[in-house]
Amino acid sequence: MPLAQIIGTGSYAPAQVLTNRDLEKIVDTSDAWITERTGIRERRKAAPGEATSDMAVAAARKALEMAGTRPEELDLIVVGTITPDMPMPSCAVLVQAKLGAKKAFAFDVAAACAGSVYALSVADQFMRTGQAKRALVIGADLFTSVLNWKDRNTCVLFGDGAGAMVLAPAEEEGRGILSTRLRTDGTLADILTIPAGGSKEPLTEEILREQRHKVSMNGREVFKTAVRELTAITHEALQAHGLKPNQVDHVIAHQANLRILEAVLQRVEIPIEKCWINLDKYGNTSAASVPIALDEVNRAGKLKRGDLIAMMAVGAGMTWGSAVVRW
Ligand code: COA
Repeated sequence: MPLAQIIGTGSYAPAQVLTNRDLEKIVDTSDAWITERTGIRERRKAAPGEATSDMAVAAARKALEMAGTRPEELDLIVVGTITPDMPMPSCAVLVQAKLGAKKAFAFDVAAACAGSVYALSVADQFMRTGQAKRALVIGADLFTSVLNWKDRNTCVLFGDGAGAMVLAPAEEEGRGILSTRLRTDGTLADILTIPAGGSKEPLTEEILREQRHKVSMNGREVFKTAVRELTAITHEALQAHGLKPNQVDHVIAHQANLRILEAVLQRVEIPIEKCWINLDKYGNTSAASVPIALDEVNRAGKLKRGDLIAMMAVGAGMTWGSAVVRW
């Protein structure tokens, strides 16, 4: 069975830009603090009425166009998201309907900011067994919908967006998704969480007043876990293929904080210049960030046939994962 190969990429970011200066008017923060601590300068915010599935479809259409694939040819749609349009049904089924991908079975994967790497890995398994021959993998989050705009610890970090990848069987041996790795530590569930509004504590007026249906985070613990685990999983992924860090051509990493990326890449001995960085423009777009970065590198013409790509992402859970791809 040939490996699965990424044959098309697409991305979408809403038009409205929220700069650090705009946030200075909302919470007690400053452009200097946000830029120095995170590298983020601005982020995008979805328009009123714009839903996660709308962003996902916009990114998917671009990826399908690049792949020369019609929606009807898709066997599988996996959407990594924790901000679906509604609790039920999944975002993926809405995407399936909007695209007219009649043949595809569709479902969401909830792994927060690691969502697209989780979704890619899940789709890759279906491709490896032959149960899917064409798959659409999307990472999409409308994260501004779950932010507490009075909490400066979180509201300055995130933005909205979507990215998509189309998978098909590789035409050449040795090219494609060489491996994926997924890891979870549920004992860290409370360091990055939307604590209420689910089955444990259904919405009440008190919860709404206290904004406990919005994201809450222990930033320092998330930071430490992210650096430790992304370093470990990237080492492990490269070692599994007998690869040295200098054989990596591109790093496509979840864009949470520039300091996290610098710390990880220093530890895995890959120069930061090999990592596409766009968090200054979009902030942390959660599950969307890896496929948006991949699409930008791809459309910039930087990916050459045979290039080695190391992908990595980490998110609430904590969840994290990596993918090694031969382009
Ligand atoms: N503007 C101004 N000050 C802020 C602020 C903001 N937006 N957010 C927090 N602060 C304050 C804190 O209240 C704290 O003040 P105190 O010392 O008086 O309590 C101070 O800044 C320093 O906070 P600290 O936690 O030491 O900052 P930091 O260097 O760890 O940076 C984060 C904070 C959130 C940027 C950093 O911890 C981080 O990026 N963590 C990972 C978050 C993440 O990536 N989440 C998503 C993972 S997918």
